Amino acid sequence: MTLVDKQKKILNLKNKLNAIILAHNYQLPEIQDIADFLGDSLELSRKVENLKSEHIFFCGVQFMAETAKILSPNKHIYLPNPRAGCEMADMVDIKSLKEFKQKHHDASVLCYVNTTAETKTECDFCCTSANAVSIANKIENSRIIFVPDKNLAAYVRTKTEKEIIPFPGFCYVHNFITKYDIKNARELYPDAAIIIHPESTLEASLAADHVLSTGGMVRFAKETDIKSIVIGTEEGIVYRLQKENPDKHIIPLKAGLICKGMKTITIDDLLKSMTHLQYEITLPDDIIHRAYNPIKRMLELS
Ligand code: 13P
Ligand code: SF4
Repeated sequence: MTLVDKQKKILNLKNKLNAIILAHNYQLPEIQDIADFLGDSLELSRKVENLKSEHIFFCGVQFMAETAKILSPNKHIYLPNPRAGCEMADMVDIKSLKEFKQKHHDASVLCYVNTTAETKTECDFCCTSANAVSIANKIENSRIIFVPDKNLAAYVRTKTEKEIIPFPGFCYVHNFITKYDIKNARELYPDAAIIIHPESTLEASLAADHVLSTGGMVRFAKETDIKSIVIGTEEGIVYRLQKENPDKHIIPLKAGLICKGMKTITIDDLLKSMTHLQYEITLPDDIIHRAYNPIKRMLELS
């Protein structure tokens, strides 16, 4: 079967099931092309709340599909390949977080949305790359454990008076972005805007022109008059940005910025998942209830 045949089959199944396909900005082009909605982690999870459809096929990584399930527990949410995980989210678990909390028992715990549902049950507040600074500033406690991304924690620390205590996790894709990459890009593309994801090393974030979530990058590229934009994040978003902004030059900051988890989901996985209604996200009610608390507080503070 050709790629186009597979895509047609998926769209037929989608109509038959009255299903919706959501895809993160890092997904493969052939998946982005047939998705109903593209977005960043929180945009997609929140999208599910307002959808009439019962069957949602979430092309992203595990924690994103779990967050969608926590926000919409009555919907059927499928992750087309159960191996699509986020290595950073897996760097912290309940045991390591409890031990870390014991060392800083008077601190509030702010978790990045890139955490498992189980980890969220031990956290006070949640945040995304888009709102991490504003949520940290709105928490009353002056001491905040930030889990699991040490780079995003370091970036938040530059924007707040609070004491930010970082958990030592990181994203192997963004941790590979350094200030030398920014310097090279400036030399090669002096007229370009350089935008970067805050999971990158702090020295790179501070050297870039703008530090944005992937959703923020999509809006920036659309709204700016600047014609060349260097993108410091996973390479999958370059396809979307170029497609939506054909008059602009979208330039990946460097080669090799590839998230294996994001690229795990193939068109064949999506077809199989829709054919057999397989790999539905299931979470115990208790976890859903407790993991909802930090997310609810984030939504209240946003
Ligand atoms: P966004 O929420 O900005 O899409 O980031 C998700 C992510 O995993 C970045 O690596
Ligand atoms: Fe996780 Fe990094 Fe992949 Fe984002 S790019 S899903 S943080 S491993």
